[in-house]
Amino acid sequence: MATTTLKQEQLRTDVEALVEKLGPGRSSLIPILTDVKRRFHEVDSESMQTIADVLDIHPVEVYSVASFYAFLHGAPEGQFVIRLCGTLSCDFAGKDAVADALKNELGVGFDESTDDGLFTLEWASCVGMCDQGPALLVNDQVHTRVTPETAREIVAACRAAAAAEEG
Ligand code: FES
Repeated sequence: MATTTLKQEQLRTDVEALVEKLGPGRSSLIPILTDVKRRFHEVDSESMQTIADVLDIHPVEVYSVASFYAFLHGAPEGQFVIRLCGTLSCDFAGKDAVADALKNELGVGFDESTDDGLFTLEWASCVGMCDQGPALLVNDQVHTRVTPETAREIVAACRAAAAAEEG
């Protein structure tokens, strides 16, 4: 889509300028994320991928920091943000079946949250685990070689963790 391309180009230019100013280290990550949020009103998975590329760090690091700092998110998110990689290698590895299992298990579509506030389901760009796809993140935790069955187990484990927290 033309607008996405334009946004991605603008974003890359902005991030490169910030890296020039702040330096290429990991310490630049939070100021960059904050700036991207201010300019574009969101930090979506494409933005996180671009930031990871420019900083030459693993995308999981960017997801991890962005997940931790709630102010970087636009919409309220569930306690567990599940991001399934929708990029090519994971596509070939069977991400569609995992996506269907997640949608059925959670009762929501992508870019939606469950009514109980526990889960948000999103697509991610490549999270750097291409040889072990399908890959997904639960907050900053990576799961690889996910099958529909393990996807359901992951959701069950999150529910159990939330229930245990509530005591
Ligand atoms: S394509 Fe899915 S992790 Fe790279």
